Amino acid sequence: MPQMIYLDHNATTPPLPEVIEEVTRVMRDCFGNPGSRHREGRKARQILEECRENIAGRLGALPSELIFTSGGTESNNLALRGLADVATPHQAAAGPGDPSPVIVISPGEHPSIAQVCRALAERGWQSHQLPVDSSGRLQFKDLPATTRLAAVILAHNETGAIQDIKPLAETCRSNGIPLHLDAVQAVGKIPVNFRSLAATTLSFGAHKFHGPRGIGGLLIKEGTKFSPLHYGGHQEAARRAGTEPVPLIAGMALALELWQQRQAWHSVRLEQLRDHFQTVLCDRCSPAVVNGIDAWRLPNTLNISFPGVDGEALLVALDLDGIACSLGTTCASGATEPAPILVAMGLTTDLYRSAVRFSLSFLNTHAELEEAADRIARVVAALRKPA
Ligand SMILES: Cc1ncc(COP(=O)(O)O)c(C=O)c1O
Repeated sequence: MPQMIYLDHNATTPPLPEVIEEVTRVMRDCFGNPGSRHREGRKARQILEECRENIAGRLGALPSELIFTSGGTESNNLALRGLADVATPHQAAAGPGDPSPVIVISPGEHPSIAQVCRALAERGWQSHQLPVDSSGRLQFKDLPATTRLAAVILAHNETGAIQDIKPLAETCRSNGIPLHLDAVQAVGKIPVNFRSLAATTLSFGAHKFHGPRGIGGLLIKEGTKFSPLHYGGHQEAARRAGTEPVPLIAGMALALELWQQRQAWHSVRLEQLRDHFQTVLCDRCSPAVVNGIDAWRLPNTLNISFPGVDGEALLVALDLDGIACSLGTTCASGATEPAPILVAMGLTTDLYRSAVRFSLSFLNTHAELEEAADRIARVVAALRKPA
């Protein structure tokens, strides 16, 4: 069996040894319920609040603006439903002639946004998709008159395209429309500052940046009216009931801290690695098309089409050859539908059917990528050969 080369870090990342150690330490030494008033509880509470301060500070937010959740999916659900409930509290009672409230989104939102929009449609909401150009960049001009909410993926999981959300954020702010940013692929990959992005809410999850799975966060701008998703205790300022998993939160805080420490050199090196890998693949697997090439992209992401090759067959063959990569969204695995963002970018059928995503991490080496390019070139050539 060839040695596995893991190039699927937008799906998930391995937790760093330091993170595993920190989670274990806190689980062992600070097991108390942070809601308890005795010493064990106070010890856990102290760690929890230190982590809140630490993480919020690194993301340009106030500690009181951060609530902990189980990850990106929950944060996205919580944000959209929490904001939508406040935007249209009496929608169920709306008359037949009343205009529908509109939620504005970008094409290719993650299912944890897209499916919430579907659920909101049952309550009378309409979704309005902003257009993107052929590299996946948002083409924002204006908003429909009855827009009550907007949600945009800040960095795309498939293409890595990073949106310039300033014009949209300004329009939302001047019209009093809440704006949610799905920053699950951005946090821990590029610097993210909640205050300067001027969003109302922003979601992230630790397993995308070498933290533990099952923990994430939602930033909610101070003073925002917001209703909780489920009911229970008064944890997280009564916005997210449930005993906080302090060990996972401590692991997430450390993972983010470690990322920030290495961020400057790490991003440059990663981008160089990715660009080199991209050049080699384009050269050795010609014809090949890089999707989103003109966009500002995450430094670790390469979405590339190999015309004439079936993406599914390529994925299977690469897996057999020890390359872990992805096509479509991993979260929707099993689905053979093309990634909606690639369709919205106007790719031809041959291009989106042959598109694969390689997503790197600082753990990948130059030698590994050379080896990966060798194997990919071999497999692509074999699949292109007429039977
Ligand atoms: C852009 C985006 N949003 C949300 C999610 C969901 O995050 P989680 O896996 O933490 O639930 C993902 C996961 O791939 C994602 O890429």
